[in-house]
Amino acid sequence: MPNLPTLPSAYLLELGSTPELSWAELDSLFGDRVKRVDTNLAIIDQPQETADQLIDTLGGTIKIFQVLDTLPLTTSNQELEIKLLKLLETNQKLKFFVAEINRHHLPAIDLSNIKTRLTEAGQTVRYMAGPRQGLSAAILRHKTGVKELAVINTPEHIYLAQTLAVQDIDDWTKRDRGKPFADRQRGLLTPKVARMMVNLAGPNRQRIIYDPFCGTGTILMEAGILGFERLVGSDLDPDAVTGSSQNLEWLQTNYQITVGINIFPADATKAQPQPIPDVIVTEPFLGKLKPKAHQVPNIVKGLTKLYIGTLKNWHHWLKPGSEVVIIFPRFIEASGPSVYENLIDKFDQLGYTTTLEPIIYARPKAIVQRQIVRLKVKQYT
Ligand SMILES: C[S@@+](CC[C@H](N)C(=O)[O-])C[C@H]1O[C@@H](n2cnc3c(N)ncnc32)[C@H](O)[C@@H]1O
Repeated sequence: MPNLPTLPSAYLLELGSTPELSWAELDSLFGDRVKRVDTNLAIIDQPQETADQLIDTLGGTIKIFQVLDTLPLTTSNQELEIKLLKLLETNQKLKFFVAEINRHHLPAIDLSNIKTRLTEAGQTVRYMAGPRQGLSAAILRHKTGVKELAVINTPEHIYLAQTLAVQDIDDWTKRDRGKPFADRQRGLLTPKVARMMVNLAGPNRQRIIYDPFCGTGTILMEAGILGFERLVGSDLDPDAVTGSSQNLEWLQTNYQITVGINIFPADATKAQPQPIPDVIVTEPFLGKLKPKAHQVPNIVKGLTKLYIGTLKNWHHWLKPGSEVVIIFPRFIEASGPSVYENLIDKFDQLGYTTTLEPIIYARPKAIVQRQIVRLKVKQYT
């Protein structure tokens, strides 16, 4: 029998800045295997993957901890410090930090006291300076030999944990800024949000994925990294077709991926790719980036019509049970219903059910927010 690496009994996952979306991603991939234990935290018991495998799959999880101990909420800082001392015992040189999560209402753990006690016991030790909620991904990735422990409060327990993996920020930036074709006018879907959207379609990678408004190809690039069987994209604009093809070439070269790709010019209300895709993940045309308030009602009307046209078209050829992960814009200064509200009553008639209620993703002060929704083509009864 080969020696399999032993996996910890549980991981705690710290969710990113849009925790609802991060959670939906986890739920879509792991179902019952994952439990939400606080707004910003989830737990996976008996994981079957290493922390590195998980962090490389997820767009919305920023850190993964191994649970070392579970303590009652009444545990005092003094008791915690004694436990931490034990966990930091080593006969090697040590650089450490103790992150504290969801504990802003409590007095801080005294790192200098821990250091003094370890030094008195003969250890060569120093601690890092850093924000209380934990060292940044940059520090943890680039400074070698730092051990980060964490004290994590949830409404039920205090967990003592050790940081095992952090998001590879350099890699996310490489795709965001390094791809050859970028077009800010087309909107700014980040690779992380694109990754979460692809993951909202579930864990099965043996599928053909289609983005009918592919733009620069951000969604298809993330699907390529995740190992989807075939990447299909189309766009009304020939520049986007050439540009996203270039980006996917770049991805294959830079990430040693070989995947079937088909990008073609088409209007999303008419396009009919062959072979038929299994899943659609898309950020459609969202109208102007910075519309004036008085323009919004007309924009909403136009976009509602466009989306009805596309949903009708996709319904002609998508197999029953196929899912569509799609963004609808929400104009924050607008009075009247949003595009999604206009569409709610129509989904049924168009042959879809909603399997994920809208989750808002927005940058601070954004004029146009994104509502991310998952629809499913109704099964015949
Ligand atoms: C918001 S952008 C998509 C950006 C893309 N997610 C990316 O990461 O680059 C919308 C795209 O829809 C395209 N578009 C607009 N109307 C269309 C239509 N009727 N059919 C297909 N594509 C259309 C635009 O050319 C644009 O590239």
